[in-house]
Amino acid sequence: MSRDRTRPIIMPNAVPAAVPADVEPGDAVHPGKPVTVDRYSGAARINHWITAVSLVLLALSGMALFTPKLFFLTGLFGGGQWTRAIHPWIGVVLFFSFMGLFFRFWRANLPAREDGVWVARISDVLGGHEERLPEVGKYNAGQKAVFWSMSALILLLITSGIVMWDQYFYSFTTIEQKRVAILAHSIAAVVAICVWIVHVYAAIWVRGTLSAMTRGHVTGGWAWRHHRKWLRELVQKPGRRTPAE
Ligand code: HEM
Repeated sequence: MSRDRTRPIIMPNAVPAAVPADVEPGDAVHPGKPVTVDRYSGAARINHWITAVSLVLLALSGMALFTPKLFFLTGLFGGGQWTRAIHPWIGVVLFFSFMGLFFRFWRANLPAREDGVWVARISDVLGGHEERLPEVGKYNAGQKAVFWSMSALILLLITSGIVMWDQYFYSFTTIEQKRVAILAHSIAAVVAICVWIVHVYAAIWVRGTLSAMTRGHVTGGWAWRHHRKWLRELVQKPGRRTPAE
């Protein structure tokens, strides 16, 4: 049985219409020379960059606490005591900030039929042969993998972090639970840093992507080349927003 992946949204001056799940409110094509396509609202971008900064600070403070070889990194946070005190709080900021991203983007990251083919043709992805790939929606399977793995990892990091946060939760957990939490926390942190590196590399490698998160829009050519199904949906969607709306 196929799942209904559409959701109705009501737009100003338009009859209620079924819009594909990867077309988010605010996504819009602006005809002109060049054509531009709105991809992220200002609020989504602020939300994203708070998440990005907190993950970098968490990684630096976490590595400083992880091994004496990197203890010198505590200098960035005002010394060892400060690093230890601040690290969990940055984790709390990351968790809530990522939750904001999660609730904004989860629908557009639901699996789609073309994802399997995209993964099967990963050598064409890496070789830059996009003409051999299926047309993809707002996000390709690689971006979806980053999204869902980050969601799982951040959940694991916050739960294991709370078990280890002795300042407030010492009496709620046993020593054995803390040991397991330390192991899970360290592994999740290493994997999250690797996923983050892949995410940033992809954002830089696919030219024209960064402007989506800095200026909020991409060129029509970028959308046509990398997310053609999404572009088609935007152009064809019933009652679609015009730039004036
Ligand atoms: C400094 C590092 C970062 C850079 C340069 C960066 C860059 C970008 C860019 C350019 C996009 C837009 C991609 C597109 O629309 O095709 C994006 C999307 C996104 N980023 Fe980042 N990012 C960074 C850090 C992070 C971190 C740390 C997280 C989460 C922990 C994150 C989560 C996301 C999510 C969820 C999206 C939406 C894509 C999706 O839902 O699949 N980013 N990022």
